[in-house]
Amino acid sequence: MRLLLLLFCLFVFSHCNKAQKTVVQSIIPTPEQEVTTGEFSSISNINFLKTNDLVKFGPWLAAWGNTKYTFEQNNNAFTHYNESLATGAYILDIGKDNINLTYHGDEGLKNGLSTLQQYWKLHDKKLPITKVIDSRPFRYRGMHLDVARHMFDVADIKKYIDFLAFYKYNYFHWHLTEDQGWRIEIKQYPKLQEIAAYRKETLIGHYNDQPHKFDGEKYGGYYKQEEIKDIVSYAMARGIEVIPEIDIPGHSQALLSAYPELGCENKVYEAATKWGVFNDVLCPNEVTFTFLENVLDELMSLFPSNYVHIGGDECPKDAWKKSTFCQRLIKENNLKDEHGLQSYFIQRVEKYINSKGRSIIGWDEILEGGLAPNATVMSWRGIEGGIEAANSNHDVIMTPTSHCYFDYYQSTDDVEPLAIGGYLPIKKVYNWDVIPPDLAAEKHQYILGGQANVWTEYMQDFSHVEYMALTRMATLSEVLWGRNSSNLDQFGSALVNHINYWQEQGVNAANHLYNPSLEAVSAADGKVELKVTNLLTGTKNQIKAPGNELFEDMIKPYHFTGSGEYKVQSTYNGNTGRSASMTYNKHLGTRANIKLKHQPAEVYSGSGNDCVLNGVEGSDAKYGGTEWLGFDGKDFDAEISFDKQTTLSSITIKTFKGEGQWIYLPKSITVYAVADNGTETKIAESKDIASESKIARTKIVLPSTSMTNIRIHVKNFGNIPEGKQGGGHGSWLFVDEVIIK
Ligand code: ACM
Repeated sequence: MRLLLLLFCLFVFSHCNKAQKTVVQSIIPTPEQEVTTGEFSSISNINFLKTNDLVKFGPWLAAWGNTKYTFEQNNNAFTHYNESLATGAYILDIGKDNINLTYHGDEGLKNGLSTLQQYWKLHDKKLPITKVIDSRPFRYRGMHLDVARHMFDVADIKKYIDFLAFYKYNYFHWHLTEDQGWRIEIKQYPKLQEIAAYRKETLIGHYNDQPHKFDGEKYGGYYKQEEIKDIVSYAMARGIEVIPEIDIPGHSQALLSAYPELGCENKVYEAATKWGVFNDVLCPNEVTFTFLENVLDELMSLFPSNYVHIGGDECPKDAWKKSTFCQRLIKENNLKDEHGLQSYFIQRVEKYINSKGRSIIGWDEILEGGLAPNATVMSWRGIEGGIEAANSNHDVIMTPTSHCYFDYYQSTDDVEPLAIGGYLPIKKVYNWDVIPPDLAAEKHQYILGGQANVWTEYMQDFSHVEYMALTRMATLSEVLWGRNSSNLDQFGSALVNHINYWQEQGVNAANHLYNPSLEAVSAADGKVELKVTNLLTGTKNQIKAPGNELFEDMIKPYHFTGSGEYKVQSTYNGNTGRSASMTYNKHLGTRANIKLKHQPAEVYSGSGNDCVLNGVEGSDAKYGGTEWLGFDGKDFDAEISFDKQTTLSSITIKTFKGEGQWIYLPKSITVYAVADNGTETKIAESKDIASESKIARTKIVLPSTSMTNIRIHVKNFGNIPEGKQGGGHGSWLFVDEVIIK
């Protein structure tokens, strides 16, 4: 058996290019069944027999290279419609001289072709003799792209669509309008092209960098209708439906800059030059509805998709509260409040779109104030919106920020390019459950599938989009194909091949596969363990401890000894990843016990509550990761116990300021000594915590007393002031190390 395997490997090795050393398991998403003999077919040109079904994919096939489709005699690739397969399913049989693809529906044909394309591309125009039997659980597999914050060339949009086709996505959600720019040509309204498509300048750096600085350069542009038609047909040839989004009634500042009569206030509007949520929104008056109907007529003539996405997210109600017209409209229509008015707005637009035989999709805010009767809901703020919509028998597309926002960081390394925030590594994408765990089985049918979103505030060029999107897109395809329960190792080794392939094509695919993830976790005997995890089994780790000159093999488990920087580098199959480091500084609190009155938000729970007492600090540049605890509207209220009477002199607490993400420094920090009988005595307090930078390190000097228990109460800032991002909402509090001396 071993010998056979060796011969097989030698054979394969000698027949493959360097991107693909073996023929095993290279298809992503992993097919349901793939039986490979290890030999290659003799096919060097794929010559499809033309059929009516195949014609629509002709331009795609032609782009693979060495492919034709004709009525000639010498065809070697044949397609067979078979209704007994499930919709979207296919069987691909690659023999020595022939290819047979059996499929059900256009989607099945496209999925089978996509698998064939992957073999062809990954093996440099060779095909392994293989039989694949495959089907999919989710009928909606989408990727979104925001072209309003930053815009990309038509060729780049086509490249993005190529990525989608490669990974068996079937929907491209094209986010075309925003506060910062309107990107779709509407002939009836030329000022959209002349004015709304441009902003006068753009924020430099991160929103949380204060004070805000701007580049002083006009930015913008739009897609001409001819370009849009070209992109739509390009996508269709790849089995992808393009869903256009015009985001209303919020996120409409650019539109208002061109047509201020659509706003509630008599004022001059300007396209936004920075990111966030803005109070200037559309007014639900007849002028607006007529305008939107005319825009939608042109839009629907360009996009044959059954779906039209009308946004509905993040629409502040301030302008409507101030408007006598809106208040009258609320009364006349017996609406409960401004949320009712938002629902009225969405339902009016839905009715128009339904009258044209199309359906709307909206972000989950469209649930507030009453859901439009036929709407599909995109659940983004979490999974609750999806659950609520499914429970009321509405179709749902799951796209929660926690697992589907590819604008979040992929790694906590400080060398990552600037991103909006958050932390969404491959492993987390891979482990996502598309169906919300608590959803009753009979409601699963309403979960059509999932989608990842690529918001481009911090992606100025397409290469950056590739970096943020592609590797996670490949990973999400595994999830949406229902294969993520199988084996991360096996998937990881396929992903290595894919990343290598894309990089050889000049695509900026991110590779974080060989990078170690570090955590500082409590161990026995009052020690702190430096725990290293790798994505792929078989990865070897080496460590350089403070004072050491060289890396040495890591012996597990590894405990921090002296204070200083510990560096880890990992190697997988001869590939060395980016090294990671942790700086350990032992203090009196390291390994004390901590009990929190309020738990942090699940998505910002670090490596457990004692991560704030492990001697290791998280990043100063970004919250999230293993060292920060994030509290949504709550306080950090901790009882800390030492194993013996301890004399303390000071406590330093690190907190984060990111007002663009609703993260505020605390109102106050109070320290109490707690007696054995539970009596508390306030021993120190710090108020009005402020910082010029993202980080505040608040040092509180304590009267020198000996104690075994203290309580530290870090009070949440409370409601965000009006006029700021998230005004009126509760704020987040982020706490990192509590250094006790
Ligand atoms: C969204 O991220 N505002 C849908």
